Amino acid sequence: MRIDIVTGLPEILNGPLSESIIKRAQENNSVTIAIHNLRDYTHDRHKTIDDTPYGGGAGMVLKPEPIFECIEALHKERRYDEIIYMTPDGNRFTQSIAAGLSLKENIVILCGHYKGIDERVREALVTSELSIGDYVLTGGELAAAVVVDAVVRLLPGSLHDSTSAMTDTFQDNLLGAPVYTRPPEYRGMKVPDVLLTGNHSAIEEWRQEQRIKRTTERRPDLLNKKSE
Ligand code: ADE
Repeated sequence: MRIDIVTGLPEILNGPLSESIIKRAQENNSVTIAIHNLRDYTHDRHKTIDDTPYGGGAGMVLKPEPIFECIEALHKERRYDEIIYMTPDGNRFTQSIAAGLSLKENIVILCGHYKGIDERVREALVTSELSIGDYVLTGGELAAAVVVDAVVRLLPGSLHDSTSAMTDTFQDNLLGAPVYTRPPEYRGMKVPDVLLTGNHSAIEEWRQEQRIKRTTERRPDLLNKKSE
């Protein structure tokens, strides 16, 4: 899979995308992540990527020209399955959207900043819009990092143990079961006996019960949701 991220603030993305699982996935070629700086697609001395909104109002708006030029340059190199714009008014990002994206070959993620991006970019270039939750970040970069993280860990070769993704919270619309590691007793708190028995079918049964119990207590809304 290839992910091209278009941003006015590339520095924000360097940290989250160069650690741990995401780093390993890039090293073993499960994913190629390329970050594109919008300032490289400007033509003025100040490398201007934003301007004041027509009609007045607070905040700055990302200009259309650098975004069009950057995405047109990318389109010349390959075909993209999706051009995704990160925005609080987009579709809510979910595990099932992450799973769908993990099957794509090439995607672009466009990060907005300040007050947003010129609407003509959304109309002409963007194919889907994603929000990571009902709150407003200063820009789309952290949201893009969240999407990339959730997608890349699902790629074959990312996780050491591929069954790990199948027991994730939200898989089958259920939360995950509690997990424990050594020691079997710590400060008087014991690991549930069943986990120490080595009886795999009893353990699986316990885990499934716990997933249902947890989901009922914490996220009953998930129980009534159809698989997307
Ligand atoms: N940009 C700013 N806030 C955002 C959010 N909640 N989700 C996605 N992109 C954003």
